[in-house]
Amino acid sequence: MGQYLFSAVLATAVAERRFPAGFKFGVASSSYQIEGGWNASDKGESIWDRFVHTTPEAIVDGSNGDVACDSYHRWREDVQLLENLNVDFYRFSISWPRVLPTGFPNRLSEHGARYYGDLIDALLERGIEPVVTMYHWELPQTLQDLGGWANPLIADWFADYARVLFDLYGDRVQTWLTINEPLICDFGYDGIFAPGLQSAGRGSYLCSKYMLLAHARAYRLYEREYKPKYGGTVSLVNQVYWLEPQTEQDAELTELVRDISIGRYAHAVFSAEGGWPPALERYIAQKSAEEGEPRSRLPAFTQEEIELIRGSSDMFAINHYATAAVSAAAPDATYGVFAVEGVAELGAAVAPRPEWPPTASDWFTLYPEGFRGALLYLKQQYGDVEFFVTENGYAGSDDPLDDEPRVQYHRDYLAQVLLAMEEDGVRVAGYSAWSLMDSYEWMTGYQASMGLHHVDFSSPDRTRTPRRSAHYYAQVARTHDIDVDYSFHEGDNKL
Ligand code: BGC
Repeated sequence: MGQYLFSAVLATAVAERRFPAGFKFGVASSSYQIEGGWNASDKGESIWDRFVHTTPEAIVDGSNGDVACDSYHRWREDVQLLENLNVDFYRFSISWPRVLPTGFPNRLSEHGARYYGDLIDALLERGIEPVVTMYHWELPQTLQDLGGWANPLIADWFADYARVLFDLYGDRVQTWLTINEPLICDFGYDGIFAPGLQSAGRGSYLCSKYMLLAHARAYRLYEREYKPKYGGTVSLVNQVYWLEPQTEQDAELTELVRDISIGRYAHAVFSAEGGWPPALERYIAQKSAEEGEPRSRLPAFTQEEIELIRGSSDMFAINHYATAAVSAAAPDATYGVFAVEGVAELGAAVAPRPEWPPTASDWFTLYPEGFRGALLYLKQQYGDVEFFVTENGYAGSDDPLDDEPRVQYHRDYLAQVLLAMEEDGVRVAGYSAWSLMDSYEWMTGYQASMGLHHVDFSSPDRTRTPRRSAHYYAQVARTHDIDVDYSFHEGDNKL
């Protein structure tokens, strides 16, 4: 990644700008990726435990999250790192089977409940707000055995789990994020992520529908019984790839790809009419009919379900990493990593443009302008909603402590957020860097590092060391200035 991404014109445009005083800076992580302690005390098995233990070949280095960063034991060190970073909040996730070993509320794990309670208390003591994700992909295996996200009862089970969390921590947690990226349905039902099923375009669509319902049930529960007491917020986290047409001829197809990738989750929640994006719904219904299906593979919503889901998010929580260009697929197309976004269904090819510099993760290349494009598009589609960036970060391989490309990445992407706010009038309340430290990168194992802190996975201590990007980010969080001329000097700050 080179300086050219940050042109002189852009540098001048943002040099004098600052994020407003109320803007919040934080960092994010997720339980399976950092905790380890996969069978500590009475924790139940999750679909990721099962997947990595039975299908290690699905992970590039055959690794797993059994120990990961060992945050189950070393969380106090994490809190110290957070304090050094000057962050306003820490976004972390709760492992469902750590708190409810059977997946159901019939048995609460005291160890699990205490673990997250202690973490929340320690954060609050240091003035760091806990931002809690309730589901970052660790479904209890017991529930998977009953059909998981393809069973309509999952909405009840998720609401029951949500009630347990609201009861345990609602007095201290103001910001709840229900589900991290429902787009995960495509990965889980395309064999590449847990639970490793093969049911693209059928199981993945059942999962899409029931995740939306599960989210909405948790939202309505909080709204009814907890919001009057605690006044917090509940939101869904969407992964938004920015998608551009390859050529002008690809504009219509690009709209459909945006519908399946972004609208499949955003339309039901944020549009005025709710439900699936109409063009997508028509397209899949017609295709299903042509295939001889008795009904659309994209399951319909009842009017009652549409009303339940519509408006069920207090803000638009957005994870953004990548931009891709859309064109019609060649007849013999192999779809690559973007196939799992459901684009094979649409006969579209989705790929980065060759001029965008690569990162260590093959699914994203660098194009900061895409972030601004995505925010503006979402505002145009769904109105003047408040955004909160829940993930944005850089994947390197074997990153040294002097990780200049990651510094540039955050600077360049933050510059686009600033421009979206000031030039396009997009309301953005906060930004989370992914990630606090190197962690288990799902199918990429430990091959991609995304941390502001390096973690020594060969050491039993899992030693954490701040990278240059940690120093930079601590400065940004303190000053609200992206500092276009940033240069680091030893001893610049206390990290
Ligand atoms: C996920 C994270 C993951 C990140 C980078 C996001 O989609 O929420 O868990 O680490 O991508 O791969």
